[in-house]
Amino acid sequence: MTATIIDGKAAAATLRADIAVEVARFAAATGRSPGLAVVLVGEDPASAVYVRSKGKATVEAGMESFEHRLPADTSEAELLALVDTLNGDPAVDGILVQLPLPPQIDADKVITRIDPDKDVDGFHPVNAGRLATGLPGFVPCTPYGCLMLLRSQLGSLSGKSAVVIGRSNIVGKPMALLLLGDSCTVTIAHSRTVDLPAIVRQADIVVAAVGRAEMVKGDWLKPGACVIDVGINRVEGSERGKTKLVGDVDFASASGVAGAITPVPGGVGPMTIACLIRNTLVSAARRDGFTLESAS
Ligand code: GUN
Repeated sequence: MTATIIDGKAAAATLRADIAVEVARFAAATGRSPGLAVVLVGEDPASAVYVRSKGKATVEAGMESFEHRLPADTSEAELLALVDTLNGDPAVDGILVQLPLPPQIDADKVITRIDPDKDVDGFHPVNAGRLATGLPGFVPCTPYGCLMLLRSQLGSLSGKSAVVIGRSNIVGKPMALLLLGDSCTVTIAHSRTVDLPAIVRQADIVVAAVGRAEMVKGDWLKPGACVIDVGINRVEGSERGKTKLVGDVDFASASGVAGAITPVPGGVGPMTIACLIRNTLVSAARRDGFTLESAS
């Protein structure tokens, strides 16, 4: 069997086009555009790339992008003061503080300072609690993007067996809650799980978010399973001195067994940014009492 390759880039482009239409409707009705503030502290090169992509996607959707670049030696108090300012700024609908933060800053303190109703990353404990209890809030972008890909590939997820590998607050835990919300039978596996291949082999849906290059092998999979690979691992390429990106799934073996699989790159990654833009639009709509027609 050869798996269907799930084209996250195309799905993200469709979602972003839908969002742009809604942004135009929102702007016509309210006289303003949704605004996203992105804060980058320091010069981590990967973070700088992400922040640039987020700003570009924001502007392409017709929204305002407010970028705040602070030096690496910024104090926690200075960053908290900026968050306070953004919380109080009516032009700002979404606030994203790019992680990781430098060691002198407590990331949990910063995340908790963001107004939960502007927390488009969905990292605030209030939004984690809303997700866990089924209240409307903001869902972290990467798991939400994974859910969209699964729904478009499989239709209803009800009754399916899902295994999430990884238990982070950013991906694993919210992913498990989203799958539960769609009536899957969910298992969360992690580094202490005994006989992981046997657990994975039960699953109709596998979401791999462990951060270990090519860990999940084809012979771990139930034939026909739908495999979502959240991993982004930089490894040495076949050419000397060159690196390449690989996921947490061994694509070569897995694509011979799975029914459908996301590639790395071009799978989950583009959906994460599209969901961030969507969350920003949803925030603006909630704040202004505007009803969205699609993109939800
Ligand atoms: N660093 C890596 N991914 C993310 C993300 O989705 N949000 C934030 N704020 N920082 C990140």
